[in-house]
Amino acid sequence: MVSWKQLMEDVERCEACGLCRTRTHVVPGGGDVHSPLMFVGEGPGAEEDRQGLPFVGPAGKLLDKMIEAIGVRRQDVYVANVVKCRPPGNRNPTDEEAAACLPFLRQQVALIQPRVIVCLGSVAARHLISPDLRISRDRGEWVVRKNYFFMPTYHPAALLRNPEWKKDSWKDFKSIRDMLRDMDEPLFRG
Ligand code: URA
Repeated sequence: MVSWKQLMEDVERCEACGLCRTRTHVVPGGGDVHSPLMFVGEGPGAEEDRQGLPFVGPAGKLLDKMIEAIGVRRQDVYVANVVKCRPPGNRNPTDEEAAACLPFLRQQVALIQPRVIVCLGSVAARHLISPDLRISRDRGEWVVRKNYFFMPTYHPAALLRNPEWKKDSWKDFKSIRDMLRDMDEPLFRG
């Protein structure tokens, strides 16, 4: 397996798909690489592309609040995306772009070894759990694969557009908190 340092170097200089031509910065991910809790979004937006950091724009501000609402600090989780470079105009990444980038996410997961992986929105959930997954139908249900516990839930950008979904999202986040507590993970100690 590659080292974390090597992986980050590979991500930074990747030219495996056309998104490399329009990016300002690559956004590999950020947070605690030893965290039991990992969040996976879709791809960087405008602010993330400017700063080279994941979830720092409006959706990121909401994600911060949701993480803090379950008693966890954002710096204690790891946050990444299916694609590491911004799709122009914030369109969904194509299947080809996702396929070119997913080996990086798989290596991140293999190195971090989180217990719980939260798929934020259908792009992450379809690529990580099942292509047939529908967030409106399947959110909130745990999927266990290879000892990883996956939770599909709404993307925070979708919650900004549809605030009435926040109630269900809160249920999902409480379920995440309870699962990590049951696993006796150290996130809530201290
Ligand atoms: N939306 C995403 O899916 N990822 C980010 O990093 C920011 C917004």
